[in-house]
Amino acid sequence: MPALLCFDDERPAAQRLLTALQAAEAPGQDPTGGEPWQLAVVERHRFPDGEWRLRLPATLPTVVAFYRSLHQPNEKLVELLLAAPAARELGAQRLWLVAPYLAYMRQDMAFSPGEVVSQRHIGRWLAAAFDGLITVDPHLHRVAALADAVPLADAQALSAAPVLGAWVVQRRPGALLLGPDEESAQWVQQAAAATGLQAAVCRKVRHGDREVQVALPPLDVRGRAVVILDDMASTGRTVAQAAAALRSAGAASVDVAVTHALFVGDALVALQAAGVGEVWSTDSVPHASNAVPLAPLLAPALQRSVRSFQISGNSTTSSILRK
Ligand code: R5P
Repeated sequence: MPALLCFDDERPAAQRLLTALQAAEAPGQDPTGGEPWQLAVVERHRFPDGEWRLRLPATLPTVVAFYRSLHQPNEKLVELLLAAPAARELGAQRLWLVAPYLAYMRQDMAFSPGEVVSQRHIGRWLAAAFDGLITVDPHLHRVAALADAVPLADAQALSAAPVLGAWVVQRRPGALLLGPDEESAQWVQQAAAATGLQAAVCRKVRHGDREVQVALPPLDVRGRAVVILDDMASTGRTVAQAAAALRSAGAASVDVAVTHALFVGDALVALQAAGVGEVWSTDSVPHASNAVPLAPLLAPALQRSVRSFQISGNSTTSSILRK
């Protein structure tokens, strides 16, 4: 019976994934061999000095997946550093990480001598701890594939852009989809392809954590409904600058759709001040703006991975038997 492990603060999202997994377990088509997934919460105790004591189920099945979205990642990475090898000691033979938001992907090169390329090191560490990774819209800019950042044979990068696009087209039919920087082109193009909406991309120059300049593309936006679409909003300054420019250029409305609603500090205040109307996000990061659940994407991806492990496991067994 495969186990889905989560932590108490993400139990609702893990429960949605469990429900989606169970819904797909049609008789005779269950890729996990007919056994339903079980959800268990990893117990945490915080010692007075800040260290964790974790407790997993005392015995685990062969197939185990952790659900852990890696926003506010530093503590969570330590949890996984402890929990992943412990899961193997308790019986897991195949270990997946379902991390709808994958942290540290933006630090993908040394911008000055000596700067740590965090993407590479976090990626290598995750690849050593897990057999498979499923994530959504990882910020891959200078690398082509997720496996280049997290060197696993089973590294799946799903995209929420089509489902976010479908949400947008319901709420703002005929809207212009606008990516706030060049890196957002990949997501805006996917959302446009899925919906037929027009799409364009801005140019951005970043001067600091909260200092960005955004230049609109050469398009007439007067009177148009525009939806800014990006993989994430953190301080919200990128989106706010694009929104302010759109309002100055005469856009009728500016709304925002992002996969990962990090929205740190006064991000939402900045968006409001820039003239943003609605803000929509997926549930990769729990936030008031969550509108689009990811479980319908994550469940089939996890089932595909488990299925392929079982097929390759069976063929390994067969080849051993043939020897
Ligand atoms: C980077 O290119 C990302 O796609 C986002 O545009 C960026 O991380 C947003 O950051 P912030 O909200 O802090 O401007």
